[in-house]
Amino acid sequence: MTHSDTLPPRSASGFRRPRPRARLAPRETTRPLPEALPPLTVDDLPRSLPFAPKDTLQVGSPPLRLVIKTVTGLSERFRWWRTPLTSAATATEEMGPLDNLYWIHKSKYPVCQMPGGADPDSRLDRNYRGVSLPQGLVPERTLTLGACGDMLRSPGIDGSQDILFEKVADDLFGQDLAFANFESPVTTQPLVDEVIGDAGPPVECCSREQFDIFKGHRGRNFDMLHTANNHMFDMGVEGIESTQSALAEEGIANLGTLRSPAQHGRAVIVDRNDIRIGFVSDCFGLNGRVMPEDERWRIHVSKLLSKKQPPDLSLLKRQIDDARAQNCDFIIASVHWGWEFELFPREVQIAAAHELVEYGADSLICHHPHVIQPVEVYRTERDPARVAVIAHSLGSLTWAFMAPHIVLSTILKLRLAKGYFEGDLVTFIAGVDAVPVFRTYVEEEGHMITRIEKLTDHVGRQDSLFPQEYVGQIAAHAEHVLGPDCMRRPKG
Ligand SMILES: [Fe+2]
Repeated sequence: MTHSDTLPPRSASGFRRPRPRARLAPRETTRPLPEALPPLTVDDLPRSLPFAPKDTLQVGSPPLRLVIKTVTGLSERFRWWRTPLTSAATATEEMGPLDNLYWIHKSKYPVCQMPGGADPDSRLDRNYRGVSLPQGLVPERTLTLGACGDMLRSPGIDGSQDILFEKVADDLFGQDLAFANFESPVTTQPLVDEVIGDAGPPVECCSREQFDIFKGHRGRNFDMLHTANNHMFDMGVEGIESTQSALAEEGIANLGTLRSPAQHGRAVIVDRNDIRIGFVSDCFGLNGRVMPEDERWRIHVSKLLSKKQPPDLSLLKRQIDDARAQNCDFIIASVHWGWEFELFPREVQIAAAHELVEYGADSLICHHPHVIQPVEVYRTERDPARVAVIAHSLGSLTWAFMAPHIVLSTILKLRLAKGYFEGDLVTFIAGVDAVPVFRTYVEEEGHMITRIEKLTDHVGRQDSLFPQEYVGQIAAHAEHVLGPDCMRRPKG
């Protein structure tokens, strides 16, 4: 059996569409789950970039190379791990040999199903397009937010000033608040190339000049960058401080790395359009790198997904308390966590996300898995009129691989409204969109550039630069995770 055996049939446009579901389907958004959405081999894609991390492994030990080749050959042939390996660790310091082999496999063959093959629609409400204000709430103020996923150093970045965001600038910088997870610490040290292998955790970093390309588009910058992530200590304290300085020089709010011990456990408050938002943050680990005891205040890090204990949400809750004490109208938790290359969150994450919402977070924006995960709509128990939106993973906006599941990411758009409802002044989510985008690499005037493109600008378009089979595969992943609505442009 080949991987393509599991794909639904393709339409005349080249876009693979789902098999028709039995008429008894309870909801339009429920669709059959492919066993796996395979990576695609398209002959005319740029060959200068690797397809997935599995293809770039650098392993020094010959016996280990043999083990990896044997096990991943078997896993590919016999289609292991179509559902998550539930025992697998995700924190580097807890990962054993089997966890590493599983990681290598799924970097190329992402895990497309929930544990046990559960139907996502039985676990998550993915109807984000249906979110609206409760009847009776008359908005007096509104605020829009655009958020994208991980920004990692990417081939072609050096030539992509004011090109990288060209096609999505309005979705991000046209909003009242533009937000991203910035995961490539700025450094004054010599840059280190990312190497995935047995020589230790890969290193991410970028120069100040490269940061200037990531920071925005034609003078419009991100308003806030989340910096509490597993790569932020890759270049040591210098990397943290250089990143903080770069953000400060550009007037970009920094979320998650601190400049003094007193800031640890505090929320970051942003006032915009007379709406006061408290941002809280946390990260699951630092890739096994150990910060000296007296430096640990520098990054918000907790054991969010340890195999050895339940999620430690205390740091996030402390920040939520702080945001509440500072009279925030709305609280957003930005959480860097998850199992990489898995298209759906684990049950432990769903439960922890709901716990944070019930504690006081009004929305969660999550990142790290390198692939997208659903945008969940969660009606809170603490306030029956309140709907929280949980973006379980926005994916990686920029990185170094071509595989459809890796180039795909989500731009989350939230519209908030503040007004009186049943006598109280409240701020609710008035609308949500999830824009599927993909990272492209093209040769222009002899050098490579990278640019983020909207999927809807390419699927079914014969004038697209990219093969329909390729963009169709990316769209199949987007629909599988976000639901088929994601490929329809929102009304209005
Ligand atoms: Fe990460």
